[in-house]
Amino acid sequence: MEQPVPEEDQLLVRIHATTVNRTDCGFRSAKPFIVRYFTGLLRPKRRILGMELAGEVEAVGAAVSEFAVGDQVFGVKGFGAHAEFVCIRESAAVAHKPTGMTFEQAAAVCDGACIALSCLRTADLGQGRSILVHGASGSVGTAAVQLARHFGAEVTAVCNTKNVELVRSLGAHEVIDYLQEDFAKNGKTYDVILDAVGKRSPLWCRGSLKPRGIFIGTDLGFLGHVPLMALATKWIGEKKVKMGVARYTKKDVLFLKELIEADEYQAVIDRSYPLEDVVEAARYVETEQKTGNVVLTVNGARAR
Ligand SMILES: NC(=O)c1ccc[n+]([C@@H]2O[C@H](COP(=O)([O-])OP(=O)(O)OC[C@H]3O[C@@H](n4cnc5c(N)ncnc54)[C@H](OP(=O)(O)O)[C@@H]3O)[C@@H](O)[C@H]2O)c1
Repeated sequence: MEQPVPEEDQLLVRIHATTVNRTDCGFRSAKPFIVRYFTGLLRPKRRILGMELAGEVEAVGAAVSEFAVGDQVFGVKGFGAHAEFVCIRESAAVAHKPTGMTFEQAAAVCDGACIALSCLRTADLGQGRSILVHGASGSVGTAAVQLARHFGAEVTAVCNTKNVELVRSLGAHEVIDYLQEDFAKNGKTYDVILDAVGKRSPLWCRGSLKPRGIFIGTDLGFLGHVPLMALATKWIGEKKVKMGVARYTKKDVLFLKELIEADEYQAVIDRSYPLEDVVEAARYVETEQKTGNVVLTVNGARAR
């Protein structure tokens, strides 16, 4: 590919690290078929995947004032980051890289955390509120546990045996190993249940919600039942269903940078691959068993 040229309000970033996430894999595989209406009916609309990025500013457009050549940045954009260079608008979800973080770590922050923030904001979390995060060891889940704890909620995390200690170290007050115990049958109730991996339906979790409790889903669910139930419960019943929709903003990226620099947030990295091994990396992400994030290093030596 030719090296892109930044427009007036854009930065050209030399990428040192990026990630392979579930959205990259969803866009590439274009399954189920209906997804093709968004990803391209006959061929992929997006030729270069990759949403998260960390790297150095190589050039700036004439109207850019916040960044200068040589600045170290991190952020998230609508694809194109599986490459050596990418252009991103100054006003987009990009900020100076948190102090003390490597490019690899910084690349693995924004997607999961911005999705988790979008979900948690609908839940009115705070002191005295309780949340159960199902799928607490994924990219969204590890972010949600840390952010819910930061917002002051009482956090219960659900994950596999192998991730119990990790999730506890991220700040969960209680951890349920789903191989040992079914949270829907233990009689405990929560103000909020966040299904961070799209594996539980709102109906399944209903009994685990307190009166006026909220179920938040990150996935559409079978035949899109999560958004349909969100619509229905807006008017009917005291327990609500909400659909978390990713929003990527500079404000959130700056908020995350602040949390990281205050030692209140960390990026969880499962594996790191060089860009040339993107196929292997994507295969691993598609197992739906990654812990946190999978990083791609574009410039191995600089990424660390
Ligand atoms: N709403 C939006 O805008 C939006 C945008 C992007 C992605 N998404 C969705 O968000 C979800 C989370 O994405 P992600 O990147 O965080 O996922 P991920 O990192 O791939 O999730 C992997 C984790 O899921 C857990 N898991 C797998 N099967 C499970 C099961 N049956 N029960 C409980 N946990 C299970 C695994 O934990 P254990 O090893 O502990 O089992 C693993 O650590 C995905 O479903 C994705 O489609 C939503």
